[in-house]
Formats: sequence, structure tokens, C-alpha cells
Amino acid sequence: MVVSKTGGVAMRLKDKVALVTGGAEGIGAAIAKVFAREGAAVAVVDVNVATGNRTVQAINDAGGKAIFLRADVSKSHEVKAMVEGVIAEFGRVDILVNNAGVTLNATVADTEEDDWERVIGVDLTGVYLCSKYIVPHMVEHGGGNIINIGSIASFVGLNNNAAYNAAKGGVMMLTRNMAVDYAPMKIRVNALCPGMVMTPMLEKFIAIQPDPKAYVAKVEASTPLGRIGTPEEVAEAALFLATDECPYITGAALMVDGGYTAR
Ligand SMILES: NC(=O)c1ccc[n+]([C@@H]2O[C@H](COP(=O)([O-])OP(=O)(O)OC[C@H]3O[C@@H](n4cnc5c(N)ncnc54)[C@H](O)[C@@H]3O)[C@@H](O)[C@H]2O)c1
Repeated sequence: MVVSKTGGVAMRLKDKVALVTGGAEGIGAAIAKVFAREGAAVAVVDVNVATGNRTVQAINDAGGKAIFLRADVSKSHEVKAMVEGVIAEFGRVDILVNNAGVTLNATVADTEEDDWERVIGVDLTGVYLCSKYIVPHMVEHGGGNIINIGSIASFVGLNNNAAYNAAKGGVMMLTRNMAVDYAPMKIRVNALCPGMVMTPMLEKFIAIQPDPKAYVAKVEASTPLGRIGTPEEVAEAALFLATDECPYITGAALMVDGGYTAR
């Protein structure tokens, strides 16, 4: 049995079905685990089959309920088939977390066209495609909850992050658009915007810096809370947005950035 963090009282996502894209590792895996801990049945969607299956195994071993589905969120036919698979297994989706993302370390002039397409494809088009095919099911079941993982890059320019910045800015406005369009259908749509969080994505990014140690020190110094965040800290914030504890919050951005954008 999964014991709730709230001391075994009511699980906060009991009887809900959640779908987490990019749920194999990093922030997505932490969200999938926290949602399962709180009683949700979780569909973990990712391109990384081995890691995705490991995350699902860990959830099921802990007494939760999870399945893995392979899909590239930037490919329409794969998203369509994946959504059909989740509906066949669980019957509905109450909570969609559009988390899958990739980065690219380049300015506009240095960004190759296919790299631009890939980053926009996963980080922005992926949010559109997963939402497009899941929203009708949410409408059919009387409502839902969508959490789009934005970034501090949804709000501030980051050096050498042209395509990523553009995609994450787009995620924020798509969030606001969907919040407005789907409020009458009782679907809340919010963005969760992390700052620097220690995941495989950030580890790889740190590794390609000319002086990785100096880079980490710079990040810590520019973050008011003075440290890099953890995937679990982001997951607990996602849990808050996913529950019915904030029914008047839609179209919002919840910053989980140690105060980075408050400066
Ligand atoms: N780590 C950070 O510092 C940070 C900061 C702000 C925002 N974010 C955002 O959080 C989200 C998760 O990032 P993370 O740090 O956990 O990254 P990560 O690289 O550690 O994990 C991302 C996951 O997405 C999967 N994925 C990649 N492309 C995919 C595709 N086309 N279809 C399906 N799955 C795909 C990967 O296989 C991986 O499991 C991303 O949207 C990222 O932009 C991360």
C-alpha cells in the first residue's frame, strides 16, 4: 500500500488517472512517482523504453499503479496511438502533465534548422499534440487538469538557448490560451516553471560547460535560495496544481525557481 505523505490520511489523487510525458526520468519521473504515491493511476510516456519501464517498475513495486507507453510527443501518429492505448487501459485521463522536453545550447545564428524543428517539435508542438488528443476525452468526462512544464525560459532570456527560449515562451502563451478556451469545459490549465533542477538534462548541460564547477557556482550565486532545486520539489508543486485544492487557479504560472525570476 502507498502511504500518503500527509500521514496516511486521504490520498490527494485517489481514483484519478494521470498521464506524464517524459516520465521516464528527471522531473517527469518524480511527478509520476508523487502522483502514484497520492493514489493516481499513472501512464508514463517517453521515448526511452528502458528507463520508462524502470520508473514504472519502481512505482508498481512501491504499491502504486503505472503503465509505460512509448511515444515521441512531437509525432502526431505516435501521440494518437498512445492516447488510444491509455484510454483502452484506464478509460480516461484526468490529469495531463506535458513535461517531455529537450534543450539546445545555441544562439539563433548557430542553430541548425533541423535542430530548431526538433526543439520546437518536442517542447512546444508536443504540448499541442498531447493536449489536442486528450482534451476531447476530458470534455467527455466532465473536466480535467493540464499542467504544462514551462521554465524560467518562459519569462527571461537565457544565453545560448534560442530555440528552447522560443518554445518555452510559446508554452506559456499556449497555457493561457487553453485556460481561456477550456474553462467552460471545467479543464484547468496551468504552467509549472522550474528554474535550475538537478536532472539528467541539467547534468548533461553542466558537463558541456567550459568550466562545469564554475558554472554550478554561478547558478547558485544567481539563485536567491542559493542552490539548485530537486525534481521532488518540482513534483510536489505539480501535485498541488493537480489536486482539487486550487479550483480557482487556471492560466497561471507557478515558478519553482528558488527566486531566480524574482530578482
Ligand atoms: N532540469 C531543469 O533544470 C529544468 C528547468 C526548467 C524546465 N525544465 C523542463 O522540465 C521538463 C523535464 O526536464 P528534465 O530536466 O527532467 O529533463 P530530462 O532530460 O532529465 O528528462 C526528460 C525526459 O523527456 C523524455 N523525452 C525527450 N524527448 C521526448 C519526446 N520527443 N517524446 C517523449 N519523451 C521525450 C526523455 O527521454 C526524458 O525521459 C522539460 O520540459 C524541461 O524543459 C527543466
